[in-house]
Amino acid sequence: MRATFLRPALLLPILLSPIGPLSAIGWAEESRQPDVVIGGFDTPSLAPWSVTGDAFRRLPSHPPGGARYENGQGSGLVASDQSGPTTTGTLVSPRFTTERKFINFLVAGERNLPGTLGVELVADGRVVRSSSATEAGDRVLYQRTWDVADLADREVQIRVNDRSASGSIAVDQFVQSDDPGAAAIDASRLFDETFRPQFHYTPRAYWMNDPNGLFYYRGRWHLFHQHRYPGGSGTVWAHAVSTDLVGWTRLDVAVPTDTEDSNFSGSGLVDWANASGLKTGPDAALLVFYTLRPPGPVEAAADDSAPCTQCMAYSTDGGDHWQKFAGNPVLRTPDRRDRDPKVFYYEPGRVWIMVLSLSANNADRKAARYGIFRSADLRSWELIQSLGPDGWFWECPDMFELPVDGDPHRRKWLVVKGSGDYIVGTFDGNAFRPESDRTKSRWGGNYYATQTFNDAPGGRRVQIGWMNTGKAKRPNSYPGMPFNQQMSFPRELTLRTTPDGPRLFRYPVAEIEKLWGRTHEWKEQTLKPGENALADVHYELLDIDLEIRMRDARQLRIDLRGEKTVYDAADGKLRAFGAAAPLPAVDGRVRLRLLLDRTSVEVFGNDGQCDLSGVFYPNPSNRRMSLTVEGDAAEIVRLSVRELRRARSL
Ligand code: FRU
Repeated sequence: MRATFLRPALLLPILLSPIGPLSAIGWAEESRQPDVVIGGFDTPSLAPWSVTGDAFRRLPSHPPGGARYENGQGSGLVASDQSGPTTTGTLVSPRFTTERKFINFLVAGERNLPGTLGVELVADGRVVRSSSATEAGDRVLYQRTWDVADLADREVQIRVNDRSASGSIAVDQFVQSDDPGAAAIDASRLFDETFRPQFHYTPRAYWMNDPNGLFYYRGRWHLFHQHRYPGGSGTVWAHAVSTDLVGWTRLDVAVPTDTEDSNFSGSGLVDWANASGLKTGPDAALLVFYTLRPPGPVEAAADDSAPCTQCMAYSTDGGDHWQKFAGNPVLRTPDRRDRDPKVFYYEPGRVWIMVLSLSANNADRKAARYGIFRSADLRSWELIQSLGPDGWFWECPDMFELPVDGDPHRRKWLVVKGSGDYIVGTFDGNAFRPESDRTKSRWGGNYYATQTFNDAPGGRRVQIGWMNTGKAKRPNSYPGMPFNQQMSFPRELTLRTTPDGPRLFRYPVAEIEKLWGRTHEWKEQTLKPGENALADVHYELLDIDLEIRMRDARQLRIDLRGEKTVYDAADGKLRAFGAAAPLPAVDGRVRLRLLLDRTSVEVFGNDGQCDLSGVFYPNPSNRRMSLTVEGDAAEIVRLSVRELRRARSL
């Protein structure tokens, strides 16, 4: 049996329209009506739109000497930066009645909360739809669409906001239409915006990159991250805490910058024995180590700005408040771009170890190394070993020990780089000795700047990666959303014996069970070509756990709202996000776990032997899921599809 899914755009008017099903008839496909222009800004006057403040001015789309904004329509558009970015104000449309299914418009500008910098639709004094502007520094107008089918025949107004002292916005061509100009989005409900992940960490708003300073202390997991916000001068460390690795509470910026500098990536820890001498009360001193990056071009090879230094900030109240260490920097090194200190306690030697990415500049990755430093007091550091250069040792190092197959007496050390790729070896407090090749652990997709938590309870080793959307996808990444980027779901790391030697397995932390809702289960069932095991599943947050015997089936295909994961039995490869990871069948069986969260899919093969994480932007109206086989029938040993609840977000 196959459930039919009605597109919300067609369904909602019937259910919600104040005048009932009649309006839905007016919206039938065959009676598409011409667009109604609400604002094209092609005449010299902005009337009947009105402005407050001094920000908004009409300007020609095609001025002599070139337009400041690309993609405008007609002869004019409106922008809020005509007297510089500091001006503020609003641009408000006349009241009009919604008489089409969609409102389409063009917008460019800086990513922000829509009430600060963005476009809002207001009905009865309430914001019912909104969109943030696009992306900092971008001057291309992009199409945005609101689905207003459920607001038929309502009196509404459009408000364009620039309440930001630093950013600006440009808009053009507001029309009512029966054709969506783009996938419909809405950002009017914070933490429930169209593309907001519901159990992957995202910042409330603005830019995020690497996870930083991960540690656990007295019931709280601390997550810091690279963060840039409008009007801020450089990158700062934002801060969030969680009691269960699932729901997060966002706190104030923990490590701000004083000048045009940036606080680049680093790590965090609990100074249990007060080696730093910074403890003042009942709480242990909590320390974070970050790289102070003086202003300068980040990517340039010939960057001659001042060298990076390694600095420290600390908290004496359990992690609520942070201050910079007065004796900063704690480490100066000769290279210019040394960065991303990962500091941890080496218990047998009762010393602190820092592993640092050493690099003269950002372009010559082949010359980069990892330096291992040692300290007794966390304030002064000596270099004890340098790994590389051979082109491998690049950015965001991590280093930790894991038991092999859970045996506490057989332990190995791992050196992990930004991509999550790793080397297995030994470490005696003086030197890391590799025992394995450089082992690939990331196959494409979006997973970078990995880091594990220090001081995790029960000897757990939990890793988070930044699900970077990459420059290629900007500025269309998270269209119309106030935030950018998401973190991976936390993974539990284990080291297991395989025919190739000890290998790192990464699997979603068990805490995800807290979100499990309704479950669809299959057991010992044959799946024939043409059958869809997910035909009745239309949920946007899923935890899928599958064990399958491929038998003579050639291919397993999983399609989650348009994002495809494929397992090919012939070459034993798992394919997703343009990458192919080896996934050998074990006793004829393959296990797959997939986490679907609105704009991301994370795929884990054979209990985490390989994983692929990727970001995608589904058409919001597409809830179609399928799990099918090609070639011949396969046997589903077990399939659990769990609908997930939204995680708590504050
Ligand atoms: C990795 C990285 C780090 C650096 C940070 C800056 O993504 O380049 O090496 O510290 O980002 O935001």
